[in-house]
Amino acid sequence: MPFYHTLGQIPPKRHTQFARPASTEGTTPPFGDGPFYYEQLFGTIGFEGMSSLLYHVHRPTMVREVLESVDMTPKLAVQKNMLSRKLLGFGVEPADDFLDSRVPLLVNNDLTFGLAAPRQSLTTYFYKNADADEMLFIHRGTGKLRTLFGTIPFQYGDYLVIPRGVIYQIEFDTPDNRLLYVESHSPIYTPKRYRNQFGQLLEHSPFCERDIIRPGALETHDETGDFLMKIKKQGALHSLVYASHPFDVVGWDGYNYPYGFSIFNFEPITGRVHQPPPVHQTFQTDSFVVCSFVPRLYDYHPKSIPAPYNHSNIDSDEVIYYVDGDFMSRNDIAPGHITLHPGGTPHGPAPGAMERSIGKKETQEYAVMVDTFRPLMLTEQAVALDDGKYYKSWIM
Ligand SMILES: [Fe+2]
Repeated sequence: MPFYHTLGQIPPKRHTQFARPASTEGTTPPFGDGPFYYEQLFGTIGFEGMSSLLYHVHRPTMVREVLESVDMTPKLAVQKNMLSRKLLGFGVEPADDFLDSRVPLLVNNDLTFGLAAPRQSLTTYFYKNADADEMLFIHRGTGKLRTLFGTIPFQYGDYLVIPRGVIYQIEFDTPDNRLLYVESHSPIYTPKRYRNQFGQLLEHSPFCERDIIRPGALETHDETGDFLMKIKKQGALHSLVYASHPFDVVGWDGYNYPYGFSIFNFEPITGRVHQPPPVHQTFQTDSFVVCSFVPRLYDYHPKSIPAPYNHSNIDSDEVIYYVDGDFMSRNDIAPGHITLHPGGTPHGPAPGAMERSIGKKETQEYAVMVDTFRPLMLTEQAVALDDGKYYKSWIM
């Protein structure tokens, strides 16, 4: 996240001695004379990107054992897709384990888009995705994302952005959870056009820094033993045993850390005539964008047509995940449905939706859109959720 945040204790000068107090009397952290803390630079794009400096109780490098590796490569069913599709996303079966529950649906070399219905909290091991930034969207469920940077509470409507390499566990309050997830091989940022040269979100941005949920409640576990860590790297899940608790940070500061953002805090941009999809943009990467469709007033030109015009996203595939409310441009859409409109063919409102929209004053829809700049392939699980007839839905 491109603004500074700090938690816990840090020394006044980076890369200098920082030790815990030998006793509580006569010493004041961080100027203790006990064992040193261990500094770690947690950076991106070599040493050019955003980074944070963390201070560990134990060396963060203490690998005790390397166990098995499991291939996680999605099983592809359609590699060259030309059909518009509707996937019935709530058909994804719940599973106990957080990683087992993740079902990849749409993939290319840039990202994996999937759904998950985890029943249990992740507490028996730690997880790190070294391949990709992760974005989780909470459709159903509440809980806490616990990371080595601190804790982020989440609820319905929250995006959680987890930069690559962040070690985390996730706790759910109940077994009834529905998540959308995206693994992105390029970093997930807020849209550049909404930031000034210093990174501050500008006045015309649909959200600002106050809306960002930063990690808090830093956990510092001074424990040694056997700690299982599962690391996703090159599409495989590698199991390693570390000799110290991964959440042993006493303090950190910097710009690279996980954060949350609620779709309910996205302030829609509207106009006299229909505004194009970029007004809904929430995140950007080098290879796709994420947009939030939220309740908003419709266009107010006296002759306006609130429904979108037909459009040819000739060089991108468009995925919309329907969250809640009445989605005005389509017929027969329910929460949990996913539509895929591949580049190369135009798409638009369902028959009758344009006429139906005229005179309407507002919409109550919630949806998350992912537009990819390269074509998406369908996994076997995606094909199993496909209704098989959506591509003909524009025929009267
Ligand atoms: Fe579209």
